[in-house]
Amino acid sequence: MTNADVRIRLLGPDDADALMRLAETDNLFDEDPSVAPSGALTYDAARSFLGDPTALFWLAELGGGLVGFLHCCIQRRRNAGPWAELLLMEMGTHMEWRRRGIGRSLVAVMEEWMREHGMEEVWVPANLYATGFYEKCGFAKDEGEILVKALGGVAARESMNA
Ligand SMILES: CC(C)(COP(=O)(O)OP(=O)(O)OC[C@H]1O[C@@H](n2cnc3c(N)ncnc32)[C@H](O)[C@@H]1OP(=O)(O)O)[C@@H](O)C(=O)NCCC(=O)NCCS
Repeated sequence: MTNADVRIRLLGPDDADALMRLAETDNLFDEDPSVAPSGALTYDAARSFLGDPTALFWLAELGGGLVGFLHCCIQRRRNAGPWAELLLMEMGTHMEWRRRGIGRSLVAVMEEWMREHGMEEVWVPANLYATGFYEKCGFAKDEGEILVKALGGVAARESMNA
């Protein structure tokens, strides 16, 4: 494989099928591929996600197979300077395709998009497994820690308006 063989595209609402396909085996893109896939996604849920103007989702394909993805949120800034920054929510390279430059290519495509759209900064809440990768891609540790709280008993739904 050369990097030129990998095709990276930014998905839009008409690409719901690709997102549904990824959901079937997205455990293979996880740090621990023995976990279950995230579960079947409805067409409407996939379309709604990809139609969200604050969601950016790049998919890397090789010969018809899915080999990587990168998902960011556009975060508006309240103060002077660039109008927004990116939050890199999640990315993954298929376990059989790691360490061949796919992750780096996805980050490069994201950076190109940032430059075109006047954005300077991207943040990532990284897991320990991936920290070395992000450092190779030029990310640096910031002070502070990322905390998370999960509320129990919230029913699944597809969008804010559902
Ligand atoms: C982290 C991940 C996306 C990297 O993808 P990848 O396609 O293997 O990365 P690349 O091949 O482009 O690697 C780029 C550089 O980072 C290095 N690198 C890759 N993974 C690394 C890791 N886990 N730790 C340290 N360095 C790593 C590579 O050796 C390469 O260095 P080089 O250019 O000097 O040779 C991939 O391991 C993955 O999908 N992990 C599981 C999911 C995950 O952890 N996602 C991040 C969630 S925050």
